[in-house]
Amino acid sequence: MRTGSAAETEAVAEELAARLGPGDLLLLAGELGAGKTTFVRGLARGLGSSAAVQSPTFQLVRVYPGRIQLAHLDLYRLESGAELGDLGLDELLEVGVVAVEWGDRLRLEHPRTTRIHFSAPTPSERVISY
Ligand SMILES: Nc1ncnc2c1ncn2[C@@H]1O[C@H](COP(=O)(O)OP(=O)(O)OP(=O)(O)O)[C@@H](O)[C@H]1O
Ligand SMILES: [Mg+2]
Repeated sequence: MRTGSAAETEAVAEELAARLGPGDLLLLAGELGAGKTTFVRGLARGLGSSAAVQSPTFQLVRVYPGRIQLAHLDLYRLESGAELGDLGLDELLEVGVVAVEWGDRLRLEHPRTTRIHFSAPTPSERVISY
């Protein structure tokens, strides 16, 4: 789908969040500034968190408690070849939803994985596919 503003991208994510539960893994891919963190902001709201979502680039993992817990990771600075267990994702998936920016860098097999791709055809438009 195509969004015309950051608020619209958040709304798309919030709608998706209504269908998510513990064990759902979202791998977000797309260039710098494509809207991955913006999308996670909508996910957090949809999962019942009122936290201010920022890029977790310097922290690797941020956890947002809510109706359903959301763990937010950014692998931009991670060496390639990371595996699920290395990041403690097993434990995070047991209790909630996990969203991973630059998730295409993760090599893993998880049954409830959704890959979401973002591209930016114009400064205000984003194409989001999953
Ligand atoms: N339709 C849109 N959807 C999402 N963001 C948009 C849209 N139009 C403009 N923007 C702007 O694009 C930027 C997206 O930044 P964001 O941090 O979400 O990207 P990112 O993919 O997480 O980047 P990074 O790879 O650096 O983590 C924001 O400044 C946002 O306001
Ligand atoms: Mg980001």
